[in-house]
Amino acid sequence: MGKIDILKIAKIAQEKKKTDPSIIDATIGMFYNDEQRLVIPAVAKAFYKLDLFETFKYGATDGGVVFENNVIDWVLDTKKDVLKSKFKFAGISTPGGSGALSLVFNSYGSVGEKVLVSDLRWRYEYFVSAAKMGVLEHRLFDQDGFNLKDFEKQLTYLASIQKRVIVVINDPCHNPTGYQLSGDEWISIIKILNKFDQNEIILTYDLAYFDYDPRGFNEARTTFDYFMDLKDHVQVLVCFSASKSFAMYGVRLGGLILLGHNEQHYKFFKKHVLDDALGKWSTAPSVGVGIFNQLSSQKDLYIEELNKLTSTLKNRGDIFIKEAANAKLETYPYRGGFFVLVKSEDPESDFEKLVSEGIYLIPMEKGLRIAICGITTKEVIGLAGKIKKIIQP
Ligand SMILES: Cc1ncc(COP(=O)(O)O)c(C=O)c1O
Repeated sequence: MGKIDILKIAKIAQEKKKTDPSIIDATIGMFYNDEQRLVIPAVAKAFYKLDLFETFKYGATDGGVVFENNVIDWVLDTKKDVLKSKFKFAGISTPGGSGALSLVFNSYGSVGEKVLVSDLRWRYEYFVSAAKMGVLEHRLFDQDGFNLKDFEKQLTYLASIQKRVIVVINDPCHNPTGYQLSGDEWISIIKILNKFDQNEIILTYDLAYFDYDPRGFNEARTTFDYFMDLKDHVQVLVCFSASKSFAMYGVRLGGLILLGHNEQHYKFFKKHVLDDALGKWSTAPSVGVGIFNQLSSQKDLYIEELNKLTSTLKNRGDIFIKEAANAKLETYPYRGGFFVLVKSEDPESDFEKLVSEGIYLIPMEKGLRIAICGITTKEVIGLAGKIKKIIQP
């Protein structure tokens, strides 16, 4: 299957739904509440309170020192103090989590080299190929969960032909499966990364959906505890998406945060990552930076609002997974987040069959992705059974 254009399929579904409300549009990764509203009231309020002068003038390339501190505080939260004893931090504002990912591949990658990604994944290849690099896949799952064996095998191969290896891990609420690595799996991954001390490893930690982790805001950040065991040859680049955490997808804000081990790592980031941003977009849009900085000063209140979204999403996920099990519709392991991935032998033909019944999902290499974030709880009820009947009558 070639590259899929999710935005294009989503546009078609949106158009169809305008004239036929019975259409199920589970295509795109945007959270709508059960009243089909996308915008979070606190975010709208912060938007209307923006200072026009501050917003319309050029911002700083890195988003400014206030943003840098705020984004580090938001992402690391209570883990910041302990991490500070080991790592040097740096941060930069980006146009979405996409911008953060793009900076990693262009700043840390080399033309012609490969990036290690899982076989089931979001569309990283767009950013990777824009950096004139390629991808090497490891299998995400074995029968028990994360496939540590294949991860190590593929990393061993890449480390034998490249000095620097960029590894992408998307967790928790993995896109497209909703998988969540266990603590033990993270510990094992870190042990594997630590073995490659003749290489430079860039662990690209894409936590785009972590603020929707059903375990909660604090638990979503426990992974940072495991990073305390990382050896000096493994730097972490955290890709944050304000699109998801603040439901402001079109505003285009995200952040890239370095957890580096020494002055050299810090200087590299401050020079090359900023240069790359200057060569791409100069500064991330100030609208998002302004909203984010305001909400950072009332974090606790905002987290309360976010918890409501997470709990709605958890309920939708629970319903879908329970009904899928009853209907014998096979899914990949889901623990939380925006998407569930249904197994399919022939995703493209199943996609067509579902479209003809008014159900829009995203066909992927090994399954059909259902964006339970974008449909109401009412629409989720009965959906698994309907899909089963259409694709496996
Ligand atoms: C896994 C993953 N990472 C990063 C992003 C980046 O999102 P954005 O650029 O909209 O912040 C997305 C968006 O769908 C995603 O699914």
